[in-house]
Amino acid sequence: APGPLVDPFGRRVTYLRVSVTDRCDFRCVYCMSEDMTFLPKRDLLTLEELDRICSAFVENGVRKLRITGGEPLVRRDIMSLFRSLSRHLETGALDELTLTTNGSQLARHAAELAACGVRRVNVSLDTLDADKFRRLTRWGDLSKVMGGIEAARRAGLKVKINAVALKDVNEDEIETLLTWAHGQGMDLTLIEVMPLGEIEGQRIDQYLPLSLVRARLAQRFTLTPTDERTGGPARYVRVAETGGRLGFITPMTHNFCESCNRVRLTCTGQLFMCLGQEDAADLRHPVRASKSDDLLRQTIAEAIARKPKGHDFVIDRRHSRPAVGRHMSTTGG
Ligand code: GTP
Ligand code: 5AD
Ligand code: SF4
Repeated sequence: APGPLVDPFGRRVTYLRVSVTDRCDFRCVYCMSEDMTFLPKRDLLTLEELDRICSAFVENGVRKLRITGGEPLVRRDIMSLFRSLSRHLETGALDELTLTTNGSQLARHAAELAACGVRRVNVSLDTLDADKFRRLTRWGDLSKVMGGIEAARRAGLKVKINAVALKDVNEDEIETLLTWAHGQGMDLTLIEVMPLGEIEGQRIDQYLPLSLVRARLAQRFTLTPTDERTGGPARYVRVAETGGRLGFITPMTHNFCESCNRVRLTCTGQLFMCLGQEDAADLRHPVRASKSDDLLRQTIAEAIARKPKGHDFVIDRRHSRPAVGRHMSTTGG
């Protein structure tokens, strides 16, 4: 029977992140290797199957759905999934339907996303320098992303900028990102890089602890901690000089697992109970085995019952292997 999903540590699972594709039109250097291989399309759940799984979660108390990837907007006909999931907003079963995107295709989709009841989008953007952006994403066009952000704002969507803090790459640009985002009324959230999947470089060479970034910012700005949350792991401060909100996502320096409220579905139907653990439950079989959702619901309940306490990420000289083999783009941030 439908009921709230509660894990062994008493944490309620109210947030499902759904990676609708492992593909992306960029290859950010900290996310993927340049010769990344993607899943064959036949392994993907159909959009109808994704809808059925999401809906089962909603019936079991999930209040927030975030569509991610890879880059979710490169999945063919993805808007039909948004259109169909928006019914849960209309019935009040869902509080929020949203997405995390690299922004490259956002201009085309912004108006329709807004029409589907999406109110906010998180756009990943690590630099405002077009040359640096091209190197970081390996070929991305910054002007497309800027156009996407503009279109989203014109469509009435709130935009939050997510930037991964990267040693030597954008550490000198964080103030610029902050004043730019806040100048336009957008929140900025900084993220610590995590050891997920093989990449070309060494994680330790990219890793920049946000404790350091925060201390540096505090020399120039007045940062006042607030209790405001947006449902994810970010802790926010208000910046007096800009009037904006700055978030910190600190899996490495300040673990937030004790208040974890989320699980993740991959585009092949694997349910990961933690971003930083290998354990997953297969939901593709139950969704394909029967038209009824009974087995699906039971499989979900059993999976939540083994949600681990947290990740054990480490980045240091002795740990050159990633903590988990899969990339962020598989599990969907
Ligand atoms: P809001 O709804 O705006 O609070 O978003 P969110 O922070 O939940 O989602 P977003 O996609 O913006 O997440 C930003 C990044 O935070 C992700 O890409 C991950 O890098 C990281 N993150 C989100 N959830 C988790 C988590 O459970 N564990 C860890 N280690 N990192 C996470
Ligand atoms: N560590 C931290 N963040 C990452 N992202 C991708 N790979 C990593 C990683 N290894 C970020 C992207 C985007 C979000 C979906 O995940 O920059 O903001
Ligand atoms: Fe694509 Fe996002 Fe990964 Fe960059 S970080 S390669 S935009 S999925």
